[in-house]
Amino acid sequence: MKTIIEPFRIKVVEPIRMTTREERERILQNASFNLFLVRAEDVVIDLLTDSGTGAMSSEQWAGVMRADESYAGAKSFYRFESKLKEITGFDHILPTHQGRASERLLFELVGGAGKVVPNNAHFDTTRANIEHSGAEAINLPIPEAREPMNPHPFKGDMDVAALEALIERVGADRIPLVMMTITNNSGGGQPVSMGNLRAVRKVCDTHNLPFFLDACRFAENAWLIKQREPGQRDRPVGEIAREIFDLADGATISAKKDGIVNIGGVLLLRNPTLLQRASELLILTEGYVTYGGLAGRDLEAMAQGFEEVLHEDYLEYRIRSTWYLGHALLEAGIQIIDPPGGHAIYIDAAAFCPHIPVDQFPGQAVVCGLYRHAGIRACEIGSVMFGGEGRAAPEMELVRLAIPRRVYTQSHIDYVAEALIELKAEAGSLRGLRIVEAPAALRHFTAKFEEI
Ligand SMILES: Cc1ncc(COP(=O)(O)O)c(C=O)c1O
Repeated sequence: MKTIIEPFRIKVVEPIRMTTREERERILQNASFNLFLVRAEDVVIDLLTDSGTGAMSSEQWAGVMRADESYAGAKSFYRFESKLKEITGFDHILPTHQGRASERLLFELVGGAGKVVPNNAHFDTTRANIEHSGAEAINLPIPEAREPMNPHPFKGDMDVAALEALIERVGADRIPLVMMTITNNSGGGQPVSMGNLRAVRKVCDTHNLPFFLDACRFAENAWLIKQREPGQRDRPVGEIAREIFDLADGATISAKKDGIVNIGGVLLLRNPTLLQRASELLILTEGYVTYGGLAGRDLEAMAQGFEEVLHEDYLEYRIRSTWYLGHALLEAGIQIIDPPGGHAIYIDAAAFCPHIPVDQFPGQAVVCGLYRHAGIRACEIGSVMFGGEGRAAPEMELVRLAIPRRVYTQSHIDYVAEALIELKAEAGSLRGLRIVEAPAALRHFTAKFEEI
């Protein structure tokens, strides 16, 4: 059979409130053209993020009921710890309330003024936590990552020569660790190849540098390695994931992605001194080491989610449904980052509305146009998210259509494709925006805009 179906049945439904174009126009104005400021009930299809928006399985909900809510040493913690040990091989596993909490612990300990942290591409919270510590966050993507239509299968790879040049330039003693984001969310959700992970590990070994993963989407990355990298197709995806973790000295994970939970995070460490210091900080601001700011039921849901995310029928459906949307847009002549990655389709907004200059935020114009047209919420990943005072302009102006896990069916995705194709036909009427109010950090969450 060539049709790949959603490998689940729907047991509980959540109604979608349909809205009219007039209503949406008013909502958009009231939200100052920032979709983060729109109420979720006013959204028809919500593709703002795949983070924490997935649907939990019946087994996860059963775990929620079974959970042990003891303060210390709860059964639920040990179930969570043992599942994470099995998947990652790490002995030291700290739960945190989400990915950025793991990042905050890590960079409070290893960051600081004068330090430099390279990555294939830092996600916004990672960058913000590094910069908050006083350190500098540097992106080292391969050149192909900047070309939306370049068919390179692993545009998440790091430029290894650039990493070596950076180490040479700033000195290894200023680099507390080298990080790799799998898959690379800011750079189009693109996977990193096993070959590249091994090469970066080798550079780290040469210079005695710790190698860390931002492993939010490790299962999707492992599946894309299986699909695209020579010699990997016959390996079970769990084995590929395990090799990825074996290469690393530590990892931050937002379980809101491949943990398929609504809240949760993980910090994996091998170094006992770092573990000791991170545990102390965890207790100070998150919670005791066997719950890390979560309830026992969250730990149960994570344990089960990390198990389910490595089921190959799930991953096949997951990656294929992302591809299905990307393929429909490409067929209609809409430029996306191609080939699509795991969790989202990234539209090249600069190509979508070439009449809008970068300083008038073409990505934000597409996001607003898509909401106005069909009530679909997407996320700008471009000059709004990464620009601002004293920051280099981002490489690309993108709009991300992030697909929540196990939430939308094929007809929902067809609706999204149709809306974008219609919007493209009238793209000339999209208007640029100017920022009228914005905070200094992470401005995309709260900035206010007006249309020009
Ligand atoms: C690659 C990456 N790293 C880190 C994070 C931060 O995780 P959280 O939102 O759980 O704090 C995200 C969230 O979107 C992400 O995509």
